[in-house]
Amino acid sequence: MSAPLARFGGAHLIWHTPYINPLAPTDHGTQRPASKSQHLSLLAVTRPSSSIAMGSLDTNPGTFCTDAADGGFQPLNADDVRSYLHKSIDFICDYYNNVESFPVLPDVQPGYLRRHLQSAPPTTSAPFDVAMKEIRDAVVPGMTHWASPNFFAFFPATNSATAIAGELIASAMNTVGFTWQANPAATEMEVLALDWLAQLMRLPESFIMNRTATTGRRGTGGGVILGTTSEAMLVTLVAARDAALRRSGSSGVAGMTRLTVYAADQTHSTFNKMCHLAGFDPVNVRSIATGPETDYGIDPAKLLEVMQADVDAGLVPTYVCATVGTTSSNAVDPVAAVADVAARFNAWVHVDAAYAGSACICPEFRHHIDGVERVDSISMSPHKWLMTCLDCTCLWVRDAHRLTDVLETNPEYLKNDASDSGVVTDLKDMQVGTGRRFRGLKLWMVMRTYGAAKLQEHIRSDVAMAKTFEGLVRCDDRFEVVVPRNFALVCFRIKPRGAMTEEDTEEINRELMDRLNKTGKAYVAHTVVGGKFVLRFAVGSSTQEERHVRSAWELIQKVTTEISKGERKRTISFEIVNTNGLLPSDASSVAGSCQLTASVAHRDVRWERCGMVTE
Ligand SMILES: Cc1ncc(COP(=O)(O)O)c(C=O)c1O
Repeated sequence: MSAPLARFGGAHLIWHTPYINPLAPTDHGTQRPASKSQHLSLLAVTRPSSSIAMGSLDTNPGTFCTDAADGGFQPLNADDVRSYLHKSIDFICDYYNNVESFPVLPDVQPGYLRRHLQSAPPTTSAPFDVAMKEIRDAVVPGMTHWASPNFFAFFPATNSATAIAGELIASAMNTVGFTWQANPAATEMEVLALDWLAQLMRLPESFIMNRTATTGRRGTGGGVILGTTSEAMLVTLVAARDAALRRSGSSGVAGMTRLTVYAADQTHSTFNKMCHLAGFDPVNVRSIATGPETDYGIDPAKLLEVMQADVDAGLVPTYVCATVGTTSSNAVDPVAAVADVAARFNAWVHVDAAYAGSACICPEFRHHIDGVERVDSISMSPHKWLMTCLDCTCLWVRDAHRLTDVLETNPEYLKNDASDSGVVTDLKDMQVGTGRRFRGLKLWMVMRTYGAAKLQEHIRSDVAMAKTFEGLVRCDDRFEVVVPRNFALVCFRIKPRGAMTEEDTEEINRELMDRLNKTGKAYVAHTVVGGKFVLRFAVGSSTQEERHVRSAWELIQKVTTEISKGERKRTISFEIVNTNGLLPSDASSVAGSCQLTASVAHRDVRWERCGMVTE
């Protein structure tokens, strides 16, 4: 097993009630449990008032305060940075040591934070410790803990000590490398990190920007690190749009009405949003229906049919998005076949491998992107599965000029000799904005520190845990795995039995999910695949070990048993036509085993009936 963030093992403190906040410090900086109410009252006692000197609030007399003794504003200084970061790092380490014991989903109501923090910004300065205390007391209890080993929802947001360090260093340096000259190291680091990752994924040479090492010449390919997959879609849609307009000899809004784009019905919803932002007419966004016969991947024959029909109708196929590892069920569109179809129409092909792209660093998963040498662009997000904290989405394009031609800006204030020489890459010309973060550092640090073998081990260990979970599900005949597992996501549900309809099955599975999530001991999400409501069990949180997967499964079994033993709660609406003057509470006692759950008017009384609904 690899050694990602918290598979370090180590001692875990177990806190048994959701109200205990193990991050609360004692006077001496050691950790002790304290109740939520204790913390809130402490907060009230220590909240600054105008008559109290700020320093007196500080539990550590050695710490700094922004309104220092001389009263003047102090510019950023290394002593404050050292002091605050030491505290922050202690906080982070305590957080990781304790996150397992926190309810994964917080038990808070909308607006809760405002009730715990001042509603107006403070006029006077406060010691750093005051902010830290409010984070502990008010923010942590309202967090959904994506770092928890009991987090199985969505896709994991994986992380590692080295990525956190890289992010920290980049944030501290706070550089804005829009042009090469604005930060040569940040620009070249990003290019290097992208080229390294492209090699790990065995992307074709054509995507690699700096090929000088192997071929003696610079490639036309290029990459850029963005914040999200949506941005990767947007910039490539815009490049494809302009190319299609040029090709079809039309420009402007009139030409846009003829451009069409394509994706499977399983494609992430952000695709439609990005098409809208890029100016495509929503009626020209084609959603190709998928089904179990292709494991919810796109059928190239259907794609061809739809594209051809559009051409026959005088439209211009412009862009096809193929997904490798859909959000819903991890379905895989056949990249090579999609590229073949799109090539007939000269349409741009983009591969969205946001989650599953990370797996392609392992030879045994690489086949999922076979055919990538024939696509125009591919993106994947190491912040999902390659232990690189948010945000980090890598986009590669086969011909970088197709992006820069449409996204380049050249204002006087950014002109410089390096850019004019044409030898350097100005990454601002491959993204939406001008300013940009130094994201390449953390990604490079992850690859530099782990090395390819450990990164592969990390992916394999997650897949192995997912396989274990899948095996457990298959061994219990109350459940079924609904779609074949790819990667580390298992889509499963309680099977319909007897006369249960699809609606009943959804209801019971929803109940299972809600009950599980309410325990605070696991967080799973759902989706609908082929009309079936299924639970998504995504393995891979950075602190997860096999024991967490097994415990979650035991919990799933236990809750399912409770539900089927009749401990299931179901709300049924009755309409009492003639109450004979009974108040709802009277009616409740008449109803025997039924329990009144809401006191409303005589008509439309809601009841909660205990007992399993017969199937
Ligand atoms: C396959 C896929 N594509 C796109 C997205 C959207 O990504 P983003 O939020 O980075 O735009 C996701 C998010 O989970 C995804 O799984």
